[in-house]
Parts: sequence; structure tokens; C-alpha cells
Amino acid sequence: MATERTLSIIKPDATKRNLTGKINAKFEEAGLRIVAQKRIQLSKEQAGEFYKVHAERPFYDELCTFMASAPVVVQVLEGDGAIQKNREVMGATNPADAAPGTIRAEFAESVGENSVHGSDAPETAAEEIAYFFSGLELVG
Ligand code: CMP
Repeated sequence: MATERTLSIIKPDATKRNLTGKINAKFEEAGLRIVAQKRIQLSKEQAGEFYKVHAERPFYDELCTFMASAPVVVQVLEGDGAIQKNREVMGATNPADAAPGTIRAEFAESVGENSVHGSDAPETAAEEIAYFFSGLELVG
């Protein structure tokens, strides 16, 4: 399988509960390498730009307010089939549907406050990585 990179975000509900290390351990145990990482405070506008694909959804305003409510940790994960592997490690969007042992099953509080984001396809991964990181910051 090809080596890929994917964008991951550890969301405010998880950073507030000091879960960054426990979540990173899940990525590393699955064979994903954290090749870039930084903790930042998003503005609501920056969150809105990142999630603009969801602009027409009823939860968009709530999502942007939440993502700007506390720091997030943005990261680039690298590995064989990293995009799909990360989605497996995260579990389903709604923690009620997430498989046992996944990040969302163990840590997420609700469908909105679901601890992590991960890119869903190669094109979005490239766009999302470029939104937060320059090439110089990717040191795999
Ligand atoms: P994420 O993978 O970051 O992509 C979009 C986010 O929208 C998703 O995770 C959820 O956090 C959020 N989301 C999806 N559905 C709902 C919903 N019904 N109510 C609130 N937030 C939602």
C-alpha cells in the first residue's frame, strides 16, 4: 500500500481534558507517524474556512463555535494507507456508532464534540494539510 499523509485535528473537547497524549498513542500504536504537529487557537472565521464544505449544514455554526472554543492540536500523520487507517483508528463520526477501542468510542462526548477530525480522501488531505502547514514543517 502507498505511503500517504493525512491531516488530523485533536479537537477542543479532547485538548481541554488533557487527552492529547492518549490520542497520539492510539495513532502510533496503529503504525501512524506524527510527522508534524502544533497546538493552535483557531478563530471562528478560521474554523469556518476549514469546514466551508459544511457551510449549508444545520450544525455549521455550532461546529465553528466549538472548534474555536479552546486550543486544537493539528497534525500530519504518515503511513501506509494513512487516510483510511486514521479513519479506522478514529471510529465513526457519532461515538454511539464507533467500534470498541477506537478514539471516538473511548473519548468522544457527542457527534459534535467527537475529539478528532481526519481527512476523508487524498485530495482533501492535501488541501487540509496545506491549510495548516508549510512544506518546511513536514519532517517525516
Ligand atoms: P469531522 O470529522 O470533523 O467533520 C465534520 C464535523 O461536523 C464532524 O466531524 C462532527 O464533529 C460535526 N458534525 C457532524 N454531524 C453533526 C451533527 N449532527 N451535529 C453537530 N455536529 C456534527
